[in-house]
Order: sequence, then structure tokens, then C-alpha cells
Amino acid sequence: MVIPEAARDAIDAAIGRYPEPRAALLPALHIVQRELGCVPLEAARELAAIFAVAPVEVLELLSFYNLFRVEPGGRHRVNVCTNLPCSLRGARALLRGLEAHLGVAAGETTRDGRITLGHEECLGACAWAPMLRIDGDYHENLDLEDAKRLLDGLE
Ligand code: FES
Repeated sequence: MVIPEAARDAIDAAIGRYPEPRAALLPALHIVQRELGCVPLEAARELAAIFAVAPVEVLELLSFYNLFRVEPGGRHRVNVCTNLPCSLRGARALLRGLEAHLGVAAGETTRDGRITLGHEECLGACAWAPMLRIDGDYHENLDLEDAKRLLDGLE
């Protein structure tokens, strides 16, 4: 078993909050990722057993939502919003600049394990585009030099 007992208890509690147990599958994925840092394939299989669904149903959710990871990432998650409003204000150039600065492509982790770079859809901060998120914190109105400074300051 890769899903720890405490996480299983939290998943049971989540299931109890919904009239239809499978409605708790998304919260369960969050619980597992919070606990393990990602949702490895073995955990996906265990979730399928807990929810009595086919494993492919769990994998579909994992691949649909880019906030879930199947492999552990770097110590920091940096995601540039590349949805249309941010892209119109330079987000794609910002992402390319950060890829060059870090020496990785979006979706990859730096060799020192410090940063996993990625992109994501609208984070609701379009008025302050372009923006990115570092470990859940928003950083807005960025140019490439601002963003490089932010990333260079990460331990
Ligand atoms: Fe980037 Fe909305 S498009 S925050």
C-alpha cells in the first residue's frame, strides 16, 4: 500500500461528505498528492479499488487536470499561466525565457531538483497578466527579469 493510513482516513471522511461516493474522487486525489507529493500509478490503482471504479477512470482524471502529478517534482512548482489574456501580455515569451534560464522545458525539473517548471490555464488573475504561481503563491505583472529574480531566490 502506498496510500498511508491517515490519508485513507481522510479519503473515507471525504466520501462521507458526498451523496455519491465517487464524487469524492477529486478530493481524494488532492489528499494523496498532498501526502505523497504526487499521485503515483500505484496510488491511482489503490484509489480505483477504494472507489470501486476502473483504474482508467482515475488515470483519466490525472491526465485531464494539470494540477496533478504522477511523479515527484522539484522542491518548488513554478507554473506560468499561458491562457489567452496572459499570452496576449507576453506569457509565452516569459515561459520560453524561463525555460532558457533554467535549462529545462515546461514539464521538466531542474537537475538540482529545485524547480519544476510548467504552465497552466487561467488562474483568475488576468488583470495582472502575465503572472505565474510558485507553490501556490501568485506573482503578477511580471517581466522576464522579475521572474528570473523570483526563481533565483528559491532555495
Ligand atoms: Fe492568466 Fe487569467 S489568463 S490569469
